[in-house]
Amino acid sequence: MAEDIAALVRETVAAKGGIDILVNNAAVFDLAPVLETTRESYRRVFAVNVEGMIFTLQAVARQMVAQGRGGKIINFASQAGRRGEALVGIYCASKAAVISYTQSAALDLIKYRINVNAISPGVVDTPMWDQVDALFAKYENLPIGEKKRRVGAAVPYGRMGKPEDLTGMAVFLASPDADYIVGQTYNVDGGNCLN
Ligand SMILES: NC(=O)c1ccc[n+]([C@@H]2O[C@H](COP(=O)([O-])OP(=O)(O)OC[C@H]3O[C@@H](n4cnc5c(N)ncnc54)[C@H](O)[C@@H]3O)[C@@H](O)[C@H]2O)c1
Repeated sequence: MAEDIAALVRETVAAKGGIDILVNNAAVFDLAPVLETTRESYRRVFAVNVEGMIFTLQAVARQMVAQGRGGKIINFASQAGRRGEALVGIYCASKAAVISYTQSAALDLIKYRINVNAISPGVVDTPMWDQVDALFAKYENLPIGEKKRRVGAAVPYGRMGKPEDLTGMAVFLASPDADYIVGQTYNVDGGNCLN
């Protein structure tokens, strides 16, 4: 992983001349009852969602500090990081770590004028949700598509999120208008966290 991250920074700097914005978006999902959770699942989810997030942030922040012109780092958290869910403990814990690390990294890096903030989506219709739906179908004995239909219907806005529902917040947090915003996690979820 360390070499992959180093190569990401090296190749981006070579191609673009520097890095001013990082969006830490990559994540994986898994789901199992507590009594069936495996170390393999834990290691995979934390390797991508937590270790990947922390050390990509570190590598890019080092580059931003060397450039001397600040930067914007946006981590993708989740509503899952703000609460427990009976079957989703490992993923929820990984996203709680994203929210926590966003706060700590933000406090350390703001002296370099690097803003670290996070976005907390609710339920967004992406390939990840097809996997989520299939896993819920298995553990809750539901037909394929039923969990997705239910969660979408329960969103106060009236539907699941689309990827483009998240872009406005991401663009704002990457802009100079967000210079004074430090260590925050914003819900962009159609009201789902209030539901
Ligand atoms: N879809 C949702 O309902 C939802 C809700 C809350 C938060 N989120 C978060 O939003 C972000 C985007 O999720 P999504 O729904 O688009 O998921 P997705 O599974 O559709 O896409 C995830 C992306 O991460 C990449 N990725 C996974 N492991 C990687 C690795 N080791 N190295 C590099 N790339 C890797 C995948 O290739 C994929 O492009 C994630 O952080 C996710 O946790 C999603």
